[in-house]
Amino acid sequence: MTRWLTPVILAIVVSVGVRTHAAPPTPTDADIKARVDALLAKMTLDDKIGQLNQAGAIAFGPNAPKIEDVVRKGGAGSVLWLNDTKRFNALQKIALEESPSKIPLLFGLDVIHGYQTIFPVPLAMAASWDPTLAERAQTIAARETRAAGLQWTFGPMVDIARDARWGRIVEGAGEDPYLGSAMAAAQVRGFQGQALGDAQDRVVASVKHFVGYGAADGGRDYDPVYLSEAQLRNVYLPPFHAAANAGAGTFMSAYMDLNNVPATGNAFILRDVLKGEWGFKGFVVSDAMAVGNLVIQGFARDGRDAAHRALHAGVDMDMASGTFPQNLPALVKDGTVAIAEIDDAVRRILTVKVRIGLFEHPYTDESLLAKVVASPEHKSEARSAAQRSMVLLRNEGKALPLSKDVKRVAVVGPLGDSQDATDGSWMVFGHVSNAVTVLQGIKAKLPNATVDFAPGPEIRREIPSFFDNLIPGPKKPPQTAEQGEDAFKQAIATAKTADTVIMVLGENANMAGEAASRASLDLPGRQQELLEAVVALGKPVVLVLLNGRPLAISWAAEHVPAILEAWEPGSEGGNAVADILFGDVNPGGKLPVTFPRRTGQAPLYYARTLTHSPEGSMMYNPRYWDGPVSPLYPFGFGLSYTTFAIDNLKVSTPQVKVGGSLAITADVANTGSLQGDEVVQLYIHQKAGSDSRPMRELKGFERVTLKPGEKKTVTFQLGPDELGYWSTSHKGWVQDAEAFDVWVGSDSTAKLSAGFTVVR
Ligand code: NOJ
Repeated sequence: MTRWLTPVILAIVVSVGVRTHAAPPTPTDADIKARVDALLAKMTLDDKIGQLNQAGAIAFGPNAPKIEDVVRKGGAGSVLWLNDTKRFNALQKIALEESPSKIPLLFGLDVIHGYQTIFPVPLAMAASWDPTLAERAQTIAARETRAAGLQWTFGPMVDIARDARWGRIVEGAGEDPYLGSAMAAAQVRGFQGQALGDAQDRVVASVKHFVGYGAADGGRDYDPVYLSEAQLRNVYLPPFHAAANAGAGTFMSAYMDLNNVPATGNAFILRDVLKGEWGFKGFVVSDAMAVGNLVIQGFARDGRDAAHRALHAGVDMDMASGTFPQNLPALVKDGTVAIAEIDDAVRRILTVKVRIGLFEHPYTDESLLAKVVASPEHKSEARSAAQRSMVLLRNEGKALPLSKDVKRVAVVGPLGDSQDATDGSWMVFGHVSNAVTVLQGIKAKLPNATVDFAPGPEIRREIPSFFDNLIPGPKKPPQTAEQGEDAFKQAIATAKTADTVIMVLGENANMAGEAASRASLDLPGRQQELLEAVVALGKPVVLVLLNGRPLAISWAAEHVPAILEAWEPGSEGGNAVADILFGDVNPGGKLPVTFPRRTGQAPLYYARTLTHSPEGSMMYNPRYWDGPVSPLYPFGFGLSYTTFAIDNLKVSTPQVKVGGSLAITADVANTGSLQGDEVVQLYIHQKAGSDSRPMRELKGFERVTLKPGEKKTVTFQLGPDELGYWSTSHKGWVQDAEAFDVWVGSDSTAKLSAGFTVVR
């Protein structure tokens, strides 16, 4: 028996730092199984069911038991919604010394884009088209998270989202399964490392929300989803599969109905696909309250039925609904639920706990976080991530970059000095905002200029957010109409005195995210009116957008010469905006989502199939009679301060056998006078087949940095993974022997094309 296997003498010494431990010897799968078997053999039924419960530290309802008491009785395997290192240690001590099974707790929280060093929101990170960047960002997030005493994050969120009305589009990588899969795998590696438990400064990832949540009817959060198996398998499942293949330790089941079966009671996706086909060995946690919700959803008769059906469908841990602990004991005793089913769920949870070394390192050094966060690397990575994620949407007459010799700048708009909008979503549960706002970033960049600021009228949700209550501190009363009018006039007066106006518009953080869907994609509040009034002054105007979803900015796209999509850029966001506006950094991000012209176009995405009256034909226009069907900005789009030429497209072979691979190469050259980044993108189209295929599908990309005059050859491989798909006609995976178009270029409308044929 190795030292690692000897029973753990539980350390009461709380002061042992996570990073000061010597790396534990890596246990083999057999070691871990033996350890878990030994634990399981000693556990009572109540101990086991306790492990299947994730208890919420926020008490909902007056009779909710104190979390300490739940833990003391062995009633929790994990705790969520707590962010307090001291309390983690205190609770852990109760679990280890007073609970019957003495099994340590797993502490979980939503750390979506940074713990204290806040990175751009995931949609923005996807706009970098740089998975290595996403991996580094989540590595830093994991380091800080673990130092705070949490071992588990509820991320990455890898839901494909094609409807900009859906608020949670901000949390994922956008509309495309190929880009989404690259980002999903990268984030899992960032959070967990190469393998679960290979380091003590990593956290367990929870890939969510399994599956289809992004396709909610009408973009309304939590509403039902109807997806064919082909859509599920070809579009919505791939990022989850990529995350599972990257070794994700846990998955989270989604809230909504998927084809009339709630995702949390859905044996097809959880048992058949995830645990069956994909061989997922980790555990599944439900979304919060989702097991209990099975009753509200009109699926389960009562809590007993809900517990039974969720467990049976493949949910291993009940997040905060209490349905498992309330009902599973009786269900096992009367034989409805087999003990083997309980054991399987417990085994999965214990395996994760053992694998990450929780038994050896249950406590956290309370002074560690401050040391970890102070690392200059964290700040500089956050700044570089924000720079790389921003997308230059318009730059007429080279309006940007601005000269640093400017004398007087006006920063105008409600988000110009907003830490909230700069940090973005998921700043709940005690995150502290240290965000550098756009105003602060510009002031720091222009020490010799006068920088004035006027917010204009405030923007506010018409219907308040539940999550706002979780953010401590006093709440500002809404502005009166009169105060708004004064603020409007003040903004115009401030803009009038400036040489250049930088408008900072978009959405507050609570306008995207969970329970933050919108029926309109216009700029909220009076921002459009303010923008038009400022542009009418005839001064040079730059528009910086801070937002977590595509907005319908058709007017701006015609009338404002320079538009920078800065998203919700995180704690270094304001510095990164200033770096780009004043030319210290050349923007190179590209849209991971299509920008519609108008709300009514949603859902809008590039990878549609062709039907009657294809694009370019006589009948095409009447798809809508009141406006174009084309997007305002296509998927993959983004400008640079330099120019690029992509040519010399070559296909390694005109014919490739089913199952074989071919190489596609193209040259990309920087034809301008500044160093810059281009994201070279490869799209394919299968011209005929067992099923109709999308007009274009992304199947390769590479972000390259080129000096002026420099040229590189970019190579992409296309093999069965890229050329096959799940076919409705065959009810299975196929690769057709058919002809293909291929395009390489700088966005999804690339013109440079070639072709090849797949043969038997
Ligand atoms: C509900 C959200 O849907 C999910 O994304 C989150 O992880 C849990 N709440 C826990 O906070």
